[in-house]
Amino acid sequence: MKKLLLFILPILLICAGCTFANNTKQGDIMDKKILIAYFSWGGNTKSIAEKIQIKTGGDMFRIETATPYPEDYNEAAYGVAKKQHEEGTKPALKDNGDVSNYDIIFVGTPAWWYEMAPAVKTFLSENNFEGKTIVPFITHGGGGKYTIAEDMGKMAKGSKVLSPLVVYERGNSETDKEIDNWLKQIK
Ligand SMILES: Cc1cc2nc3c(=O)[nH]c(=O)nc-3n(C[C@H](O)[C@H](O)[C@H](O)COP(=O)(O)O)c2cc1C
Repeated sequence: MKKLLLFILPILLICAGCTFANNTKQGDIMDKKILIAYFSWGGNTKSIAEKIQIKTGGDMFRIETATPYPEDYNEAAYGVAKKQHEEGTKPALKDNGDVSNYDIIFVGTPAWWYEMAPAVKTFLSENNFEGKTIVPFITHGGGGKYTIAEDMGKMAKGSKVLSPLVVYERGNSETDKEIDNWLKQIK
């Protein structure tokens, strides 16, 4: 038993050291309190949020509307979401979230009708971002980032907005590397 402990203990210590090094290697922002808040209807933005979570160790918050969007693509996209886009609706959320305990808030959204998803507008409007840093990440179907990052800054008064990560749909085999480079850049 004693021999087994002597064998296992150094391995455990080395693993703990590696985890610490991995979590801190990205630099300054990793020392801050991080929240990853995201809206995702089809799962693409969620999968990017999960990658960011693994790399930063931040807390996760899924932004969800009080009334869920229809599961049918046409109904969701060309019905509810298009109308909300045209009317500038900020739909009620299941939970507005609370950013008060965080310094850095990664905010993820799919591009919906050339802008951030309406639920993300609600999240930004219903929280106080004074003195906070917003790090946008955007997934899209070919249209790119539009002015989503700039719009986030306008909605989240008093915040500083860093350069966004922009991913086509769910990304590809290069996405992990791109996220690593982006995190290094923004630190
Ligand atoms: C309602 C709706 C509107 C969309 N509008 C755009 C758009 O304006 N530009 C674009 O490039 N992609 C658009 N897309 C595609 C999504 O941005 C893309 O598939 C995104 O990765 C979906 O993220 P999600 O799976 O997390 O919901 C739209 C999709 C939906 C459902």
